[in-house]
Amino acid sequence: MQRVGAVVLAAGQGKRMMSDTPKVLHCAAGVPLVRLVLDAVEDAGITEVVVVVGQGADMVREALGPEYTYALQEKQLGTGDAVLQALPHLSDHCKEVLVVCGDTPLLTSETLEKLVKSRQDTGSAAAVLTGIIDDPKGYGRVIKTADNMVEAIVEESDASVEQKRIQEINTGSYVFTKEGLEATIYRLQPDNKQGEYYLTDCIRLLREARRPVTAVVAPTIETAGINTRQQLAEAEQVLRERECLRLMDEGVTIFDPRTTYVDKGVQVGQDTVIHPFTFLQGKTIIGKRCVLGPGTRICSAVLGNEVTVQDSVVVESTIGDQCQIGPYSHIRPGNVLADHVKIGGFVELKATSVGQGSKIPHLSYIGDTIIGADVNIGAGTITCNYDGIHKHKTFIEDGVFIGSNTNLVAPVSVRKDAVVGAGSTITKDVPPASLAVERSRQAVIPEWGKKKRKKEEYDE
Ligand code: UD1
Ligand code: CA
Repeated sequence: MQRVGAVVLAAGQGKRMMSDTPKVLHCAAGVPLVRLVLDAVEDAGITEVVVVVGQGADMVREALGPEYTYALQEKQLGTGDAVLQALPHLSDHCKEVLVVCGDTPLLTSETLEKLVKSRQDTGSAAAVLTGIIDDPKGYGRVIKTADNMVEAIVEESDASVEQKRIQEINTGSYVFTKEGLEATIYRLQPDNKQGEYYLTDCIRLLREARRPVTAVVAPTIETAGINTRQQLAEAEQVLRERECLRLMDEGVTIFDPRTTYVDKGVQVGQDTVIHPFTFLQGKTIIGKRCVLGPGTRICSAVLGNEVTVQDSVVVESTIGDQCQIGPYSHIRPGNVLADHVKIGGFVELKATSVGQGSKIPHLSYIGDTIIGADVNIGAGTITCNYDGIHKHKTFIEDGVFIGSNTNLVAPVSVRKDAVVGAGSTITKDVPPASLAVERSRQAVIPEWGKKKRKKEEYDE
């Protein structure tokens, strides 16, 4: 599609969102709306893309990265003005211009390809992507002639009562011949209720010049433009459903797609089973035959094969094959778990690497620690990694056994095959294969209980 360049309109603030964040940076399925639009454009094989930015331009540029050409629209004078700002950035190769709004995240590449092809097949000066919907309120209405040509697009605020009844709406996507666009866009006037330069008026101007303009009807589900938070939630639901269907097609069992939340682009291996109330977010990659959930959130983490995670949170960590996590554990950023590691209930792990076959089965906080292979960490073990100013590291070597309720005051090392007695507060390094116990001796006072009971009876 070398001939086709795309212009993505993303300069508006989106007042109806009631937000400090530019509308196009609000996310659905974990991805900014404008990113979803760009994915559809790129998947349609279009490589030349100009993004029009204005409100929050720096934020939008930063979110999308340097691989796009940006046109700055200083003042948001309307969609026509936005395209005008983009035109000088298009190369001479570009003979057709696809215009899409940055707030229509449900568009698919198939539909955009169809739109481009339809204009090429009919030889029209422009093709408009329309939708036929029950409640057309807020959209531009498509006025057609008897021979099914598009005559004009009338915005809601400028429409007559009769025109408002038209259910065919403008989705905000079009393909123009570049020549047709250039022949009309300089002639736009802001002579409408909103006082804006409407791109949609190019259609009317083309028709006045007796140039054919055709329409392609998009699947209704793809037509939504996001103007409000409510519409954002509706789009989220559609995208979520698409992602679950994709995973199921790839061989993943999802017990309840309605309560499974998968961000766009998450990868899950075959025969993995996902229980309800599970969130797979960010750049997460899950292996084969895993069992996830119920009640689990995995964010930008990489899991090997046959990993079990139940009622737990795993963030920005790498988990080896056949690990078990949870229920009720929190794997914070920066952990690397080797294969066969067991993290049980109520364990918090941060910036820690755990060697093969090691276990932290209950109620522990382990942070900034390097744990070797075949280590057992007893219930209630805490690494005291923070002295109030700095974080310090703990080293626990292969084969170590840490008794329950131990404090490891970092920096500290427990060397290979050493044992730490339950209840110890360890402040000094423990040599290999030794036993370290730090607790006061137990005092036993014979008959003490009996005497106490007698005194209580006397007091009554
Ligand atoms: C627009 C269309 C309407 C269509 C609807 C589909 C016009 C005049 N109207 O209306 O026919 O039914 O989209 O969703 O085109 N933008 C800029 N610069 C501006 C103004 C807008 O970049 O000066 C961008 C916005 O960021 C947004 C897109 O253009 O991504 C659409 O703008 P918006 O204000 O949402 O247009 P609508 O009123 O929805
Ligand atoms: Ca809109």
